[in-house]
Amino acid sequence: MGTEILFAVRLAHVVAGVSWLGEVVTINFVLLPALFHAVGDDRLVLLSTVFPRLFRLATVLGGTTVASGLVLFLWYTNLNPLASLRGQWAWLILGGGTVGAALYAFHLFQESGAERSVAAHLAFVVDADDPREAQRLLTHLAFFPRLGMVVLVAVVALMVGAAHFA
Ligand code: HEM
Repeated sequence: MGTEILFAVRLAHVVAGVSWLGEVVTINFVLLPALFHAVGDDRLVLLSTVFPRLFRLATVLGGTTVASGLVLFLWYTNLNPLASLRGQWAWLILGGGTVGAALYAFHLFQESGAERSVAAHLAFVVDADDPREAQRLLTHLAFFPRLGMVVLVAVVALMVGAAHFA
């Protein structure tokens, strides 16, 4: 029974984690370019319909990844994570896990407010028809997904490294 549950938790962790990375990759290479090229009302439609849904999806995927990762870590260390700190495996998992959890906390508490205010400014600037200011705000908005993609690739590398080498 235990191994079936462990398999389900591990599957949920890997699927949610790589889906989160996939979402951020799609934002960077599909949605942001579309937003940069959109003109007039199209930009407002993207900002008000597509982006809030993407944000909620990241909340679900990131939350599932962090919660299942914690369960896996406690399971593999027999509820005694500190005792396992002598090995390389635990350091790789804890390193990746801490960075991943920090990124998720940033997503929940920081990014939502910052993105919303940039998006609201952008809507205002589009109305006021100031293309240079609109470009500046778009570049600002693109910063979070770019950073998120680099961080998530690093976290996946640490996790796969732990499973592969340690
Ligand atoms: C937040 C973003 C995270 C991503 C994208 C992610 C991704 C992954 C991936 C792809 C694997 C599979 C590695 C493989 O089997 O080759 C994995 C394994 C694992 N992850 Fe994460 N993870 C994240 C966060 C966490 C957190 C917060 C923890 C909790 C400390 C955690 C604990 C684990 C554990 C224990 C494994 C199993 C390693 C093994 O089988 O040896 N992960 N993770």
